[in-house]
Amino acid sequence: MEKIAIAGGSGLIGQALIPVLQAAGYDAFTLRRPYSADSLSGVASIINLAGENLSAGRWTAERKKKIIDSRVNSLTALRELVNHKSSTVKTLISASAVGYYGSVTNNHIYTETDPAGIDFLADVCREWESAADSFEPMGIRVVKIRIGVVLSEKGGALPKMMMPLKFGVSVPLGSGKQWLPWIQIEDLVRVFLYLLQHSELSGPFNAVAPNPLTNREFMKLLAVQKHRLFIPIGVPAFLLKALLGEMAIVTLEGSRVSADKLIKSGFKFQVPELTSPNPLLRKEEAK
Ligand SMILES: NC(=O)c1ccc[n+]([C@@H]2O[C@H](COP(=O)([O-])OP(=O)(O)OC[C@H]3O[C@@H](n4cnc5c(N)ncnc54)[C@H](OP(=O)(O)O)[C@@H]3O)[C@@H](O)[C@H]2O)c1
Repeated sequence: MEKIAIAGGSGLIGQALIPVLQAAGYDAFTLRRPYSADSLSGVASIINLAGENLSAGRWTAERKKKIIDSRVNSLTALRELVNHKSSTVKTLISASAVGYYGSVTNNHIYTETDPAGIDFLADVCREWESAADSFEPMGIRVVKIRIGVVLSEKGGALPKMMMPLKFGVSVPLGSGKQWLPWIQIEDLVRVFLYLLQHSELSGPFNAVAPNPLTNREFMKLLAVQKHRLFIPIGVPAFLLKALLGEMAIVTLEGSRVSADKLIKSGFKFQVPELTSPNPLLRKEEAK
């Protein structure tokens, strides 16, 4: 069985990914920190998901440093272990984020050839990807997955976006015109599996569904699906900025991101659009 080590495997994406890799016949396991040479023994591929959670607190100077260092240092530690004669690692698949392009709301559809943006998250992604690229000179295939907003009922952005539903309403955030480059978690783990199995593919791939919605459209859809009242007046931007500080940018801005490179490579989305009945609510409706 091919061994796949997953750094950051205890998180939202890792916990969804490991059983899927195992069902596909891989010996997939979570790498424990601090990473050691022994734990990489016989490993063919590393999947890197490690990093301090972005929304665990306000982006103070100290937290910003932790957010960047946790990502870059994890990859640096792994690279030192792989840069060894006895290493069997052939592939690195590293998480990145669509934040690479910057948090901006406009009509441009960002593709993998666009340059990095100019805000904090773009800096994080640029440094993160550059640490991943440093595996290439060792003859390792490097894939960087620029992940969109992952939709899962178990964590991430969705449960937070659904909070107003507890009070019977769904409301847009700010102008509501910002794009939500979403991807259903089941499709995201299929993207990881697909890129693992296609050894001819390397470089950056956007992992977003091909039909993004604006924040307003998404909140309206949630209201319909959950039988709640949609109030079209957005939560004021100044309130979100007061509550979240600089992090508010990820709720107030959002770009359109292209899924074309992945689709043209042969990947097929199981949930390309959030039509009714909404697959987000599958489990709940089945109860
Ligand atoms: N979820 C999303 O919507 C989304 C969107 C775009 C990009 N991403 C990126 O994809 C990756 C995985 O996402 P996720 O949602 O699964 O994240 P998550 O639930 O926050 O899990 C990340 C994992 O990283 C490890 N970790 C935490 N703090 C760390 C530190 N200081 N140093 C090294 N490792 C640390 C932990 O794993 P261990 O304890 O097992 O080491 C943790 O379980 C993250 O880097 C995230 O930024 C996620």
